[in-house]
Amino acid sequence: MKKVCVLPGDGIGPEVVECAVKVLGEVSDSLEFVNAAIGEEAFKRTGSYLPSDTLELMRSCDSCLFGAVTSRESPDYDSPVLRFRKELDLYANLRPVRSFVKISGMAPIDVVIVRENSEGMYTQDEVFDDKGVTTLRRVSRKASERIIRFAISQALTSGRRKITCVHKANVLRFSDGLFLSMFRDMMIREGRMLEAAEQLVDSAAMKLLTDPGSFDVIVTLNLYGDILSDVAAGVAGGLGFAPSGNIGPKNSVFEPAHGSAPDIAGKGIENPTAAILAGAMMLRHLGFEQDALLVERAVSEFYASGHLTADIGGRHGSESFTEHVLKLIRR
Ligand code: NAI
Ligand code: MG
Repeated sequence: MKKVCVLPGDGIGPEVVECAVKVLGEVSDSLEFVNAAIGEEAFKRTGSYLPSDTLELMRSCDSCLFGAVTSRESPDYDSPVLRFRKELDLYANLRPVRSFVKISGMAPIDVVIVRENSEGMYTQDEVFDDKGVTTLRRVSRKASERIIRFAISQALTSGRRKITCVHKANVLRFSDGLFLSMFRDMMIREGRMLEAAEQLVDSAAMKLLTDPGSFDVIVTLNLYGDILSDVAAGVAGGLGFAPSGNIGPKNSVFEPAHGSAPDIAGKGIENPTAAILAGAMMLRHLGFEQDALLVERAVSEFYASGHLTADIGGRHGSESFTEHVLKLIRR
């Protein structure tokens, strides 16, 4: 039995997580779910967006399934997402994006974005002075090495051929330069059997839109990975299509890449594909490859048979999508 900590969160978080838990429960008898509070609801009850008992439960479980939280604008807001990534040492953010349906004006995409998840612009090291604000952005040898190693290992185990390092070393010559030179070095030492490519982040964003087929695996720094994964999701039909895994040496948190989507929360029209596919990623991570494939095939079949979700112009909201996927799994 594997214990999964379920963190519904805010907005559409609880709605899509419920769909994912239903699907996981259908394909597997080996998961035990325990719920924990995060975000607004946790704050109202405990005064913390990530209460210590939630964090301890996350640490003790075999994996976690998270929805999304709504962030506050106040200067003392402490993001629970950044905090659990840091506290649990979830250094790798794995974001596969693939097209299930033909989206008008877009070519098919099938890319895995491996995003450095521990440093870069996300250490929130901002210093005020009389001229304005200085933000410190760290790129370390250690973090670069481990994320590039993670990308190589992901590419090899999932049968992919090519890794593109996305950077801005023409401007950030020393920080991104370090990341790029480590990439070159590691590809020679550990990724010889893969094709290595390099691209500046601005042209990579354009290329993802105009020629997504030129990418296979992308390894990149934290902020670039965040932005590019939303671009890639857009090519596939929107944020409802991008699952994500935060992975560390001991712990892991799987989530849709989207946020709490307050504009559509409570209407039942959200697309739970990303959350359900995040669940499949979790199954794979826990060693249940066959169950993961079963979920992925059912999602794929739903779209292949001509059904469309509301976000891409169809009529299926999260409930009817999930009912269809459950039926396909049972068959
Ligand atoms: P968002 O991802 O919540 O939504 C962006 C747009 O995509 C919205 O129009 C939304 O309706 C749509 N969308 C997102 N997921 C969808 C789905 N499953 N099905 C259909 N449409 C979907 O990003 P936004 O609006 O920038 O942020 C909203 C809140 O979420 C903010 O408070 C933000 O800080 C937070 N956020 C939280 C994240 C997390 O908890 N991991 C990640 C990103 C944002
Ligand atoms: Mg994002």
